[in-house]
Amino acid sequence: MAISIHQLKNACREIEVFVEQTPVGTLTKSGDHFAFTYRKGIDPSLAVSLLMPVRVESYRTRRPGVLLPAFDMNLPEGEHRRVLTARYSKLVVDFNDLALLFLVGRTTIGRVTFGAPQTDKAGTLELDALMSSRSAEELLNALYRSDAAFSAISGMQPKVLARLNEADVQKFSDDRAPGQNLRLTLRTDDIVVKASPSDKPWLAANEFYCLRAAKLAGLVVPETRLFRDGQVLLVERFDRAETSTNGLSGLASEDFCSLNAFTSSYKYTSSYERVVSTLKRWIVPEASDEQMRRLFKSIALSCAVRNGDAHLKNFTLLYCPQEGAALEPRVIRATLSPTYDVCTTNAYLSEDMLALDLLGSKKYPARQKLTDFGVRICNLPLKTIEVALAEVSCGVRRALDELRLYAENNPRFMGTVGQPMIKCWQAGLASIDTGRSGSLPSRG
Ligand SMILES: Nc1ncnc2c1ncn2[C@@H]1O[C@H](COP(=O)(O)OP(=O)(O)O)[C@@H](O)[C@H]1O
Ligand SMILES: [Mg+2]
Repeated sequence: MAISIHQLKNACREIEVFVEQTPVGTLTKSGDHFAFTYRKGIDPSLAVSLLMPVRVESYRTRRPGVLLPAFDMNLPEGEHRRVLTARYSKLVVDFNDLALLFLVGRTTIGRVTFGAPQTDKAGTLELDALMSSRSAEELLNALYRSDAAFSAISGMQPKVLARLNEADVQKFSDDRAPGQNLRLTLRTDDIVVKASPSDKPWLAANEFYCLRAAKLAGLVVPETRLFRDGQVLLVERFDRAETSTNGLSGLASEDFCSLNAFTSSYKYTSSYERVVSTLKRWIVPEASDEQMRRLFKSIALSCAVRNGDAHLKNFTLLYCPQEGAALEPRVIRATLSPTYDVCTTNAYLSEDMLALDLLGSKKYPARQKLTDFGVRICNLPLKTIEVALAEVSCGVRRALDELRLYAENNPRFMGTVGQPMIKCWQAGLASIDTGRSGSLPSRG
């Protein structure tokens, strides 16, 4: 990493913010508060966030020590954050969120970068080192020792943004995992590499089969690749669009936490009603039915596979601003991103519940309540809801067959995570299909 201690020290006070190739403003710390100020004459389409249009006046944080949500969205969380902070706070006494953003902010999700313009070069990751790790701890060390560790991606699960060697990807892919499509070529220069943390073994395999269920239910999902030991999942990035001039370019990408002006720590303090209203606010009315149907379906899928982690950061809006135009819904034509980060959390925490309130409760809803939510909150016709629920049910059933096969071939997975996953999906299916309460059936 070509960042000096001197640069890092300065970054604790001030960093430059870029949108793609353009420096658009500075993010500064004064006292305990952060502020962002646009440069003069910035094109309105280069706003850093839908909630932060270009203006002369600075944007300031109200709470001390807390970044503006649009920037907080890019900070690593969990173990990734802990590892980087431990490494660099030894070198720089006042190491803070600004310096952390500067450290990782050249490779980000979306089109906003920190300290330098966007390049298309994520760090490289040596899959050989990663895959020769004998324990989860060793695997994480290998992940965080790589260049790719300097990437700004949020979330609690250990992960990096990376470019990979295609031959290695083939070499380590699990060609026996049912549902894995090895003929499909992944864009290996734009990958999210997700590893399983030590307290959630096989999280990668778990997510792989949940995304499989989503795909088979007809939802748009990013392409994925599961590695042989079930501990590593590659996910193709969806915040990239082909352009005629300069290859891949970053689509603007904002999670629903940021779109509600919440920092990451508030990701569970909301409701699915709020998710719906956030989407409504930013899409054009003509797109509403289709976008709402997708959102409803992805919430229903989370209920069916017992995903208690569909919080505000697991919904994202993608948009592509037009030069010269302000970020208005009609101009940006925002869409919901593909469905991502779905996993059966109840396989680890049997009492887990929804991440957000749904019509006043976090209890996994049965069919009638989901239908009410679809009609009253998403404003969908009853017929659309019935079709969506039937598709979710069918997708989960088909993925369940694959999950069973995978688990039967991997007894350690079956014994720890596979069996609880299967039971959770059966319970989810029962509540979605028949409307009976979602308690676990006693047989496996
Ligand atoms: N395939 C993807 N393409 C682009 N951005 C992604 C993709 N998957 C995840 N992200 C972004 O990265 C963040 C963290 O990834 P996520 O899969 O949610 O990890 P975690 O399981 O740790 O929460 C997400 O909130 C989203 O903003
Ligand atoms: Mg997530």
